[in-house]
Amino acid sequence: MPNTLNVQGDFPILKRKIHNENKLVYLDSAATSQKPSSVIQAVDNYYSNTNANVHRGIHFLAEEATEKYENARKKIAKFVGVGDPNQIIFTRNTTESINLVARTWGSKFLNDDDVIISTEMEHHSNIVPWFSLVQEKNLSLKFVQITSEGKLDIDHFRALLKLNPKLVAFTHMSNVLGTINPVKEIIEMAHEAGAITVVDGAQSTPHFPVSIDELDADFYAFSAHKMCGPTGIGILFGKKALLENMPPFLGGGDMIKKVTFKGFSANSIPYKFEAGTPAIAQAIGFGAAVDYLSTIGMKNVCSYEKELTEYAMEILSGINGLHILGPSAVDRGGVISFTLDHIHPHDIAQILDQSGIAVRAGHHCAMPLHEKLGLPASTRASFYIYNTKNDIDDLKEGLFHVQKVFS
Ligand code: ALA
Repeated sequence: MPNTLNVQGDFPILKRKIHNENKLVYLDSAATSQKPSSVIQAVDNYYSNTNANVHRGIHFLAEEATEKYENARKKIAKFVGVGDPNQIIFTRNTTESINLVARTWGSKFLNDDDVIISTEMEHHSNIVPWFSLVQEKNLSLKFVQITSEGKLDIDHFRALLKLNPKLVAFTHMSNVLGTINPVKEIIEMAHEAGAITVVDGAQSTPHFPVSIDELDADFYAFSAHKMCGPTGIGILFGKKALLENMPPFLGGGDMIKKVTFKGFSANSIPYKFEAGTPAIAQAIGFGAAVDYLSTIGMKNVCSYEKELTEYAMEILSGINGLHILGPSAVDRGGVISFTLDHIHPHDIAQILDQSGIAVRAGHHCAMPLHEKLGLPASTRASFYIYNTKNDIDDLKEGLFHVQKVFS
């Protein structure tokens, strides 16, 4: 297995010095990943040489912009194992993708007394949109419990399915516990119970191969910015039959077939859900990001991160008073949240930052999960392709320093 993927030179930001003289040890990729030069150049090149609106003009640049934008959609579809690119909708991010499902499919197909199932390990973006519907429609929202190990309690899920839920919304990989859920099994169980599924793929698509068609997910959401792409662009995958039966999300240009003084008819998918001028440069940058990741190979990304995570788990669990949240390295991705006895996560993050080590502290947009764990907050180190074992050694030294400051 490789010691490093040797990609550090592709990421200009890694040359930055932090607080004057410290090298950057970036351990916050679950929040957002860094960007390789090829992605930065793709965005720059679009603005420098192509900039025009898509789907509207017949001039040279408009056609070139449209072709690049639609090519990005095709590349992204292929990258996540989706056969029909028309099932790939450009949104702003995972959050907007899930809200789109709630506001369109949910508004049309959920009625009084219907049950939605989510889980205790969800990010707020896979809880709050459902709570908003619950308030409007008198629905009930149930949460699959987690086990003491930080995995989904499948027996509890089985019991909840007896309530005949209409929709099951869950994450492929927890952004706090790092737990990788048995997505195929959960989807099969949900389908047998007659529910549709919404999968939050924000932490999965950047880190291991995902084939949405094979998983048989009904909806699957993810963001470019966590997988080497630009901010401001995300994807909602939806099965064709579902998308075609859903009302539009936002109204405006591009999402219509015809508008008269009496009303409008909606465009075909995916355009029905892409009102207004889209994030063209960002979509093209996203296409460059999946090209970049494909060149490395997602299997290599996955095995390298597994090696890093195993190493980090071993190193961190050797620190006195440090408690790791979530399952063993076998069932988790490259996210390690932890607590350190008697020291607040914000203090930890602040002291680490003084040495150029970037981690996240807080509830990581998962307050209910922290409530369940009986914690106000945690510190999180998360890894990506450009991290090395040296970064983890630096984290260990940094944490020793934190303990010394507070001793
Ligand atoms: N959802 C991102 C995180 O977990 C922002 O940090």
